[in-house]
Amino acid sequence: MDLTVLLGAPGAGKGTVAARIAAPLNAKHVSTGAMLRDAVKAGTPAGLCAKAYMERGELVPDAVLADMVGDLLAAAPRDARFVLDGFPRNTNQAAMLDTLAARHNARVDLAVCIDVPLDVVLDRLGGRRVCPACGANFHVRTLAPRQAGVCDSCGASLVTRADDQPDTIRNRLAVYEEQTAPLVAWYDRVGKLRRVDGSGDADSVAAAVRRVVEGG
Ligand code: AP5
Repeated sequence: MDLTVLLGAPGAGKGTVAARIAAPLNAKHVSTGAMLRDAVKAGTPAGLCAKAYMERGELVPDAVLADMVGDLLAAAPRDARFVLDGFPRNTNQAAMLDTLAARHNARVDLAVCIDVPLDVVLDRLGGRRVCPACGANFHVRTLAPRQAGVCDSCGASLVTRADDQPDTIRNRLAVYEEQTAPLVAWYDRVGKLRRVDGSGDADSVAAAVRRVVEGG
């Protein structure tokens, strides 16, 4: 089982890239953020625990993620491939992922960091609109839906993500710098880090990440 980790600040484009490269790589896109949002919506025990952390833009406790990702790997076929978007998020989760991977005959092949300047990240988060029905992701200007405010895929009305409010964005970026950015050095130390310039358009960034993943 191969696990490719996507790193990058909130709004760098991890989800956008993962959605574009998963199928061509014959992989499954796993977004822990989306899994947690579903859990909150469904009112599961994990969701009830996660809700307040997510509203503040803080990381959900590692134990919740350990259960979620552990269940995912336990249920996956041996030849599965995953593109991990949003996990791991701190060095404890990275160590946890190595332990879980070893237990399930899996390995992290690469960690690809999508580098985007802060002004671009802020513009991407401020303009993001998501579909509450099917999860599709748009931007009011750079990846606009065909009809303003309406999902291209399923026709539902688009919304702003609850944590895309200015105060929460500021907190998420601070949490990223403090807890997630150190993972760049973590994966560099073990020779698994690759970096991609994420400031181009979505298709060209996704193509660049795919080339890196296929190149090993
Ligand atoms: P999560 O959902 O993972 O949010 P995030 O990491 O903050 O990342 P985003 O989804 O905001 O950004 P992205 O990089 O995927 O960008 P996107 O592709 O959408 O996590 C949410 C919360 O859940 C966390 O705050 C935390 O509480 C919790 N959580 C999740 N995982 C956790 C974990 N492992 N441990 C603990 N807690 C966890 O793009 C952004 C916008 O830009 C979109 O509008 C898109 O259309 C546009 N765009 C993207 N790429 C381009 C491009 N190249 N050109 C133009 N526009 C683009």
